[in-house]
Amino acid sequence: MCGIVAYLGKKQAYPILLKGLKRLEYRGYDSAGVALIDETLTVYKKKGKVQDLETFIGERSTAGSIGIGHTRWATHGKPDDINAHPHISSNGRLVLVHNGIIENYGLLKEALKKTGHSFETQTDTEVLVNLIEEIQKTDNLALEEAVRVALTKVRGAYAIVVMDKNDPDKLVAARKSSPLVVGVGDDGFYLASDGTPIVEHTRKVVYLKDEEIVTLTRSGEMDIKTISNEIQHPFIQELEFEIETIEKGGYDYFMLKEINEQPATIRECLRGRLNADEGWIKLSGVDNLVNKLLNADRFIIVGCGTSWHAGLIAEYLFEDFVRIPVEVEYASEFRYRNPIISERDIVFAISQSGETADTLAALELAKEKGASIYGVVNVVGSSIARITDEGSYIHAGPEIGVASTKAFTGQVTLLTMIALTLANKKGTISNAYYRQLITELEQIPNKVQQVLEKNAQIEFIAKEIMDAPNALYLGRGYNFPVALEGALKLKEISYIHAEGYPAAEMKHGPIALIDENMPVIVMATNRSAYEKIISNIQEVKARGGRVIAIISEGDKEIKEIADYTIEIPETEEPLTPLISVIPLQLLSYHIALMRGCNVDQPRNLAKSVTVE
Ligand code: F6R
Repeated sequence: MCGIVAYLGKKQAYPILLKGLKRLEYRGYDSAGVALIDETLTVYKKKGKVQDLETFIGERSTAGSIGIGHTRWATHGKPDDINAHPHISSNGRLVLVHNGIIENYGLLKEALKKTGHSFETQTDTEVLVNLIEEIQKTDNLALEEAVRVALTKVRGAYAIVVMDKNDPDKLVAARKSSPLVVGVGDDGFYLASDGTPIVEHTRKVVYLKDEEIVTLTRSGEMDIKTISNEIQHPFIQELEFEIETIEKGGYDYFMLKEINEQPATIRECLRGRLNADEGWIKLSGVDNLVNKLLNADRFIIVGCGTSWHAGLIAEYLFEDFVRIPVEVEYASEFRYRNPIISERDIVFAISQSGETADTLAALELAKEKGASIYGVVNVVGSSIARITDEGSYIHAGPEIGVASTKAFTGQVTLLTMIALTLANKKGTISNAYYRQLITELEQIPNKVQQVLEKNAQIEFIAKEIMDAPNALYLGRGYNFPVALEGALKLKEISYIHAEGYPAAEMKHGPIALIDENMPVIVMATNRSAYEKIISNIQEVKARGGRVIAIISEGDKEIKEIADYTIEIPETEEPLTPLISVIPLQLLSYHIALMRGCNVDQPRNLAKSVTVE
């Protein structure tokens, strides 16, 4: 949520910033801006996409080997040219970009007004840059010290980068609850919200920790301090992903690329961790926490959005196989309802980005209460990955499309492995069934590939229902969370209102909505409730609804009654979500495209929600 990029070194900063902003645009895309220092300070800001900023800048001067850039997802102040970042302090000396929210900005603003500061924008960021200016001026401090003192006075979340017009040889940056990475190149320093703008320049990075401030100089010094003024030693790591993984690679949209990557990403998640021939699953995170996991009173799963849906599937898996009670919580609600958590609880944190503020806040609370935390995270080195006691990465590679696809199947794959390995260790699953399931899990990538090959048929169905104002998704058992996920995918990228329901709940209310305009997407692969699902389909048909059924290969009975069917390969029922979600992803993608929506950057959304 909001992307930050900065450069200081021997090269011209503008092309680096511009390309970096394009890479970070998935984090926010309502306005963008850059600031460069050459002889003078130049700031360009524009409402809209990074492309609009680039067009606006056109042939204007972009000289300067130090600069900062920002792509915004508005929190305080509407998206327009004025509220776009970077923001300049009242005396025109300091310029700053910010990702996060300064919660006490109102009080700070009133105090700053009294000392002569004037404000042009409605943003909390303009307050922060003026606070730094005030402290720098009053106490005659170096920029990094003024930033440090200012940050002791703010409450909230931030990743910031600041430049001083009078000192074009220095960048100062800091973070708390919002990510920031320093790139250490041969030709200079880079700063960014994640590694994607950095990887083509250098693989050497330092992940800044919470409440750290870094000062970077043109002569190559990097100093890190905490806000409480303790010197830290930078820990240089290697960026692990390849540049191809953050490019579209011939696809029109990242979302389509990421949907199609799923056979490979699921295989990558299984690689080295599961061997069906030898009958083992090995997860070092589970091994390290095994006693606590096996003796836990309860598993609590926290996450948001799609990750929460993956958590719901894990609830079925854990209760079914491990026989430990599970609660799945919206991370945003968990914290505010005084939850009962004990030291014998294990909290599973599910997150693609590893930066979701609501999930992080829930984990902080769980930690405080003494629970152990297990992370199921995609982004290596992210804040959630660092706060957990143990965990496993899903290894899906960078997910750029705002609608999560390959991260979801990665999360479900990993959670399935965790459930099966714990069940095996606990003896709550028979050896034969365990072997059967892991053999089948190994086959999932091939089966996902078979569903992807139905793309043309799914596109045809998308055309038939693209004008519907509403849609209903129904599923039972393991397919109920998939119905929720299908509805979320449709609403977030096509702006069609959609609801997911347990199929049997339909008759308790939603059935009133059904008429000939209502497409009802029914997940109809469950062997365990087959007859009941057929009854649900008949109930929809009897009221004129159009049924699109996701069925098992060769199912003739549902084919007879549904308007459209999409056949998917048979698998063990607990593994179905990994396959049944694929047609729903493709259906949403095609509908959104046909409706002229930007599938990678849906309105009002941003990837990596770093504000609560
Ligand atoms: C939906 C989507 C969001 C995220 C949610 C959590 O397609 O992407 O609902 O799943 O914001 O994000 P992470 O997984 O990064 O914590």
